[in-house]
Amino acid sequence: MIAGVHFAKRGFILPPMMTSRRSFITRTGAALAGGSLLHPVRGTADDSLTSSGERPLIVSTWPFGKAANERALETLTSGGSALDAVEQGIRLTESSGNGSVGLSGRPNAAGVVQLDACIMSGPEHRAGSVAGIEGIVHPISAARRVMEKTPHVMLVGQGARLFAIEQGLEAVNSDATTRHEAWHAARMAEQANPSTKSSGQDHDTIALLVLNADGTVAGGCSTSGLSGKLPGRVGDSPIIGSGLYVDNEVGAAGATGVGENVMRYCGTFLVVELMRQGLTPTEACTEALRRMAAKDPRGEALSVSFVALDKHGRFGAATAGQGFQFAVTTPSFSQVLTSRGLGELRRVVEGGNVR
Ligand code: GLY
Repeated sequence: MIAGVHFAKRGFILPPMMTSRRSFITRTGAALAGGSLLHPVRGTADDSLTSSGERPLIVSTWPFGKAANERALETLTSGGSALDAVEQGIRLTESSGNGSVGLSGRPNAAGVVQLDACIMSGPEHRAGSVAGIEGIVHPISAARRVMEKTPHVMLVGQGARLFAIEQGLEAVNSDATTRHEAWHAARMAEQANPSTKSSGQDHDTIALLVLNADGTVAGGCSTSGLSGKLPGRVGDSPIIGSGLYVDNEVGAAGATGVGENVMRYCGTFLVVELMRQGLTPTEACTEALRRMAAKDPRGEALSVSFVALDKHGRFGAATAGQGFQFAVTTPSFSQVLTSRGLGELRRVVEGGNVR
């Protein structure tokens, strides 16, 4: 049983288990022992517990993604498109003060909140993104406007802010001096009371993926990025193929975690390509992380997690750490689930305890 997945209790009719979890874990065990999946095996069904068979299907990162998913579902139910659902779901998180998302997100080393976001539409394979944008309440909407109103994919910094304002999006004063003073005051308070100091490791980005009833796939990402990042630093979230990737023939994947560790591997592009080769969403997320951890000097301390869904209505997630929580919503189900981590998977393989 995958931790946190209790579809049977929720009245779901699950497809029969085709007992190929063992085949994936055996492959992954070999890979963890030093080999690599040069020829991924097609069509394993170890995700039978992670498929509701229902559409629409919405998957997002972190427990706060559940409210965003539910807003996305409402948007679809009231006639909105997959893109509308992505935008409205993420806007909710941007306004909610949850995670490192929106203007209440984490300031950079100069005490300024610089936001990153992107959006991608499967049918036309279009994308838009903004990076290092200041004082814009809904960066996800700015990203959508870049996609729909310009010939470009990405706008950054002041150009992105001016474009968003010109598009009529809600903006607040981006007076960096004022915020620097606030930041300086907060640092002084931290020095006086070190127990209140931020770890600098918080990076709870929202990535939200939608499979609509008509098979349309879309996704988006929004974040302030790492707290204390250097001014001008851009993370994975606005980079197509790193923080988010959508392919209407295959599915979609989103990332959360330390952006630098995703960007070096084009993480979500890799997850989607692995699904194209036949891996289920959970397998693809796990295999992408395994390859990254095998190559990276940090190993499994990458601090990266992926979520994914495919055209068949299957979903999954995996983390290089432990116990990453993600949210899954369909018309009859909305719940926060917990993914396996690479370390846990290795212990299962080594212990021969394949469940
Ligand atoms: N994943 C968010 C960031 O690193 O900026």
